[in-house]
Amino acid sequence: MLKLSVVLFLLCISTCNGRLFKTLDPVKSYTAQSDQLAAVQDLVKRVLGDRSDEIKISLVPEANYQDFALLQYNDGILTITGNNGIGIAYGLNHYLKYFCRKQLSWAGDQIGNIPKPLPAIPTEGLFLQAGVKYRYYQNVCTVSYSSVWWNWTRWEREIDWMALNGINLPLAFTGQEAIWQRVYKKLGLSQMDLDEHFVGPAFLAWGRMGNLKGFGGPLPDSWKESQLALQHKILNRMRSLGMIPVLPGFAGHVPLAVSKKYPNASISQLGGWANFNCTYSCSSLLEPDDPLFRTIGKMFIEEQIKEYNGTNHIYNADTFNEMIPRSNNVSYLGNASLAVYEAMTAGDPQAVWLMQGWLFHNAPWFWQTPQIKALVTAVPMGRLLLLDLFSEAYPQFERANYYYGQPFIWCMLHDFGGNLGFYGKLEAINNNPRKTLLTVDSTMVGTGITPEGINQNYLVYDLMLEAGFTVQPVNISLWIEEYVRRRYDSDDKFAIATWLEIGSSIYNDTTTGFPAKSLIRGPIVKRPSTVITELPYWYTYSSLESVWDYFSKAMPNLKDIPTVRYDAVDITRQMLQAIHRVLYYAMLQEFEWKNPNTMFTLGELILDLYDDFDRILATDSHFMMGCWIRDARLSAVDPKDRDLFEYNARNQVTLWGPEGEILDYGDKHWASLAKYYYRPRWALFIQRLEYSLITDTPFDPVGFAHDVFSNVEEPFTISKSTYPTTPTENSLEVAMELYHKWRPFLTL
Ligand SMILES: *[C@@H]1O[C@H](CO)[C@@H](O)[C@H](O)[C@H]1NC(C)=O
Ligand SMILES: *[C@@H]1O[C@H](CO)[C@@H](O)[C@H](O)[C@H]1NC(C)=O
Ligand SMILES: *[C@@H]1O[C@H](CO)[C@@H](O)[C@H](O)[C@H]1NC(C)=O
Ligand SMILES: *[C@@H]1O[C@H](CO)[C@@H](O)[C@H](O)[C@H]1NC(C)=O
Ligand SMILES: *[C@@H]1O[C@H](CO)[C@@H](O)[C@H](O)[C@H]1NC(C)=O
Ligand SMILES: *[C@@H]1O[C@H](CO)[C@@H](O)[C@H](O)[C@H]1NC(C)=O
Ligand SMILES: *[C@@H]1O[C@H](CO)[C@@H](O)[C@H](O)[C@H]1NC(C)=O
Ligand SMILES: *[C@@H]1O[C@H](CO)[C@@H](O)[C@H](O)[C@H]1NC(C)=O
Repeated sequence: MLKLSVVLFLLCISTCNGRLFKTLDPVKSYTAQSDQLAAVQDLVKRVLGDRSDEIKISLVPEANYQDFALLQYNDGILTITGNNGIGIAYGLNHYLKYFCRKQLSWAGDQIGNIPKPLPAIPTEGLFLQAGVKYRYYQNVCTVSYSSVWWNWTRWEREIDWMALNGINLPLAFTGQEAIWQRVYKKLGLSQMDLDEHFVGPAFLAWGRMGNLKGFGGPLPDSWKESQLALQHKILNRMRSLGMIPVLPGFAGHVPLAVSKKYPNASISQLGGWANFNCTYSCSSLLEPDDPLFRTIGKMFIEEQIKEYNGTNHIYNADTFNEMIPRSNNVSYLGNASLAVYEAMTAGDPQAVWLMQGWLFHNAPWFWQTPQIKALVTAVPMGRLLLLDLFSEAYPQFERANYYYGQPFIWCMLHDFGGNLGFYGKLEAINNNPRKTLLTVDSTMVGTGITPEGINQNYLVYDLMLEAGFTVQPVNISLWIEEYVRRRYDSDDKFAIATWLEIGSSIYNDTTTGFPAKSLIRGPIVKRPSTVITELPYWYTYSSLESVWDYFSKAMPNLKDIPTVRYDAVDITRQMLQAIHRVLYYAMLQEFEWKNPNTMFTLGELILDLYDDFDRILATDSHFMMGCWIRDARLSAVDPKDRDLFEYNARNQVTLWGPEGEILDYGDKHWASLAKYYYRPRWALFIQRLEYSLITDTPFDPVGFAHDVFSNVEEPFTISKSTYPTTPTENSLEVAMELYHKWRPFLTL
């Protein structure tokens, strides 16, 4: 039996003097241990219900231990000892995954029928310890693409999930507009000034970063207040479990009206962003040497500390996200950086600035070595914590010389826009965090997941979260086998073969960098065009064939449970997306060869495929546009705001901007979206191609773009039609039927 005292002694040797603390002051959660114990006890109850009595938990006295859990088993009772709530919760999840074969995931749980008595663990006990101090979660965009409409029930579930997966550094951005409004009103801005400034709920991420203003608004006060109330619950829960929630800080972006109110303030206009014109995207950035910078930053921090009864001292701010600084002069960049830091410390002397390091990847031509060095070293060592945001594909830490001594977090970004579509870099996430940690000059202090949107590719996140906590590579094949067992509560060899095949092909992108988004989600979601840019895939269609064949053999052997149903939809969705591409290319070929009959037959087949795509998606609420819209409407406190919120919800996943400024960037494979948005676009396209062949006139791409915008895309974003929110057919039955119908076309 592992003795706790021995474990603690060893722990102290390994972490109390560890170099991980060299660069960053430890920032502790200040929740009293007795409260943490009660909070984790409640979590155990939420997860295990009436079986929770069989788990005993305890905490060791506080010290600078790296988070850990010690599991001991005696006579049907599992005892978990940890240094805080996160350690215990991680230990519990590990036990559920590896001894009970259970899974709690974004898209449903497989948690019923835990054996009684509880399965035993090795008699000597089990000791799990985090290999890094911080495990971070969320991209600043995740709140907009995934959690914007969440109520407390959904948030509570997510925070439980974070704790169970060892996350101790989550972004906590909800509700900040209420605080900003107070600050700006104190500075003399009017409600009208602010209504022109704040964006709608679905676009807050970009409003906060200074990329957008006004679009999708005005943001109702009732929303600001209800989100603030939600934030209180979120923060209380995160803190009670021992997490360090990251609050927002001031990055320098101000409402346009500040320059009217303070005509002498030194403000530069930057922007516009993406394809937005100045109306929605020109940004006002306070110059670092303006005294107002410090005033606003300080007020904002102080207002939050007052509102939230304290702080955990880590704040996120991004001044130059997808925005090129007005000068590359290193003295200017250092000043810009110092201004953010000093405005934070003016409000909280212990502040640590967390920066999303997207800018270095996004504009490498601007951020050369001297510029990076100036930006990061202007802040005292250990007071700037960088997220190396896209480490699995484009790590920046090497070129940035390990941030010249500033600590950083190795993050997997993986997803853009919350798009669906299978993708993974399993080998990189399995091996590279450890490699980076062990590099001599490395200042890595954590791992993170920073997807723009969640609810996709759960296997990939599951692996990253484990690899992140333990920072130990696993045997991926063996790991996938266990993943399948816990997801399906089954040893079915075809189910295992399905995911081993996915794991070694579509989830095994070992090429450098990251593929074009269009390869991940397929042309099925795109505005059709006669111009194809053929890019190389990192996997073959023959592996997709194997995947589908294996899964079709697995389905009859699997239980009809949520995780199985979800994957039946997910795999079928992926196959239809792949077939769509084949049919599309074939149709264009026939068009080029001027064969109207074959072209039209293929066109009909494509439209038929859209019907089936919609049909399979409509069997699971995780894939239904109706639910996204319903939740948007429900989140409006005042019924008069519901239509505006619905517009936000519809626009973000389609046009993304009033005129398709980032057309289809946030697309989803969702029922109703397929039926009323994607399909009509393709129907119009096919009609135009056919017309062109019959009349022997060229296809007019400009006319088509115009027509598809005004006949399909824009009407969809302003429509108020209601869509189904409850599944009708059985996922497994439909998946099987569509396998038989469409499988021959995968090889076409
Ligand atoms: C929260 O939202 C979910 C849908 O996302 C819904 O099922 C649930 O009933 C809501 N809970 C409350 C308390 O409103
Ligand atoms: C702006 O600066 C001018 C010239 O220095 C000064 O006269 C004026 O009072 C200042 N205005 C404000 C609002 O501070
Ligand atoms: C910017 O775009 C909006 C929406 O498309 C449009 O209403 C506005 O006139 C445009 N403004 C400018 C300055 O072009
Ligand atoms: C605020 O926090 C302090 C400890 O920092 C605690 O004693 C007090 O009860 C808290 N107040 C509220 C309203 O939560
Ligand atoms: C950067 O700006 C400072 C202050 O304005 C100036 O002294 C310096 O020469 C500039 N450096 C470069 C490389 O232009
Ligand atoms: C940066 O700030 C210092 C000190 O305030 C100042 O001397 C220098 O000119 C500033 N650099 C630039 C480029 O503005
Ligand atoms: C992983 O485990 C399997 C099964 O034991 C074994 O065949 C394979 O060689 C292992 N792979 C690696 C990379 O060690
Ligand atoms: C991924 O592909 C590489 C070769 O490109 C191979 O060495 C590795 O074993 C593969 N990983 C998995 C999990 O199949």
